[in-house]
Amino acid sequence: MNSGHTISMLGSGLIGLFYTMTLHKFQSRHTVQHVFSRSAERAKQFAADWHIPKYSTDKRTVIEDPDTDTVIIGIPNHLHLEAVKMAADAGKAILCTKPLGRTADEAKEMLDYVEKKGVYAAYLEDLVYTPKTLKSLDAVKKGALGKVLWVRSRETHPGPHSAWFWDKKQAGGGALVDMGCHCAEIIRNFIGKDIKPVEAMCWADTLVHNIPAEDHAIALIRFQNGSIGQIEVSWAFRGGMDLRDEVAGTEGTIWLDHFLRTGFQMFTTVGQGGYVAEKAEGDTGWLFPVGDEVNELGYTHMFIDAFAAMDEGREPMETLYDGYVVNAILDACYASAKTRQWEPIQLQDWRGKEIKETGRVGDKFVDDKYDLIKEEKMPDGRRKLILKDKETGEVIEKIA
Ligand SMILES: NC(=O)c1ccc[n+]([C@@H]2O[C@H](COP(=O)([O-])OP(=O)(O)OC[C@H]3O[C@@H](n4cnc5c(N)ncnc54)[C@H](O)[C@@H]3O)[C@@H](O)[C@H]2O)c1
Repeated sequence: MNSGHTISMLGSGLIGLFYTMTLHKFQSRHTVQHVFSRSAERAKQFAADWHIPKYSTDKRTVIEDPDTDTVIIGIPNHLHLEAVKMAADAGKAILCTKPLGRTADEAKEMLDYVEKKGVYAAYLEDLVYTPKTLKSLDAVKKGALGKVLWVRSRETHPGPHSAWFWDKKQAGGGALVDMGCHCAEIIRNFIGKDIKPVEAMCWADTLVHNIPAEDHAIALIRFQNGSIGQIEVSWAFRGGMDLRDEVAGTEGTIWLDHFLRTGFQMFTTVGQGGYVAEKAEGDTGWLFPVGDEVNELGYTHMFIDAFAAMDEGREPMETLYDGYVVNAILDACYASAKTRQWEPIQLQDWRGKEIKETGRVGDKFVDDKYDLIKEEKMPDGRRKLILKDKETGEVIEKIA
């Protein structure tokens, strides 16, 4: 077993904090040794809070620190490309937060650069690593849902916590690129990452905030096997952070609620003097705390996988290639929001299957004459069968 990786952490903002909390709080073998922040004051305080030996306001110094073997990128979206290249040049393993790029072109440049340099890299998409999601994905893999037909993934909250998110140039867009990236990757995991996303239809609008980017979007992603993904995002949802996924298959259904309705409700007239959960809007009245936030948001299992994959010489569950596919999906969504048409998802580098469009799954076989369309138990106990004549196409009903 490796004695533990030594980490250069880029960013001491919200994600730098969640990442460091995850790694240090549970006495993981992997420790942050050097932290970068724009502000010296913040860097110093962050290093002191988390017992990090070194801090700096110079990215290169932190990335090229000879005492670290891994760079975690947790700085704003427009800075990912430069950081990935610097870390790859320094021969470090790279773990990059979401979204990988602001566009698929940017993501592809990172992917190609890292692959050319031959360094290990992982895409830090935490929401596919929540314990509930991991268990659900396992059930889907074992066939519990039959063919997955429709995945709906929703992430909404009252809006981000830092200025750069609201600047389209730095962020690459609004709520869609910020949160739709989570939804797109959750959808891909359930439908199958080897199934090609082919086209997107998207509505995006700015309904509330005075910003050039969208604060709302709904998108449909159609896959080559006929399955459909549905992304829902908002930066103006009131009441906290709503993270929900629904998976519908030919043989089953999964509903996941990750944050507001986890089974933990609390009422207080006076509050508890502080933080309740990410994006919670108040600390009195009925509250929806989250038991172990870094675990329920997937950070714990994400780092376990990312570092284990590195040690075992295998690919992590989430790769930079996945980050690139996600960006390509979002690019098509943005194009569709403009043209109001279905837009093709442009994947110049596709590493999954190419399948003939399969369409309908097919009705169940009953006998040589009929296919079963539907079976239902009626209130009076009769069992009703809706049958279709194979030859004539006539649809009849029969009491079984
Ligand atoms: N669930 C998740 O995976 C998740 C959650 C939040 C953020 N993120 C991602 O992490 C990255 C950072 O987001 P965050 O929420 O930590 O942001 P933040 O504003 O809280 O922190 C940003 C950090 O980057 C540094 N920084 C360097 N140059 C900067 C610049 N020009 N402008 C602003 N900050 C600069 C800041 O000093 C700070 O340490 C983004 O790519 C974001 O999409 C991921």
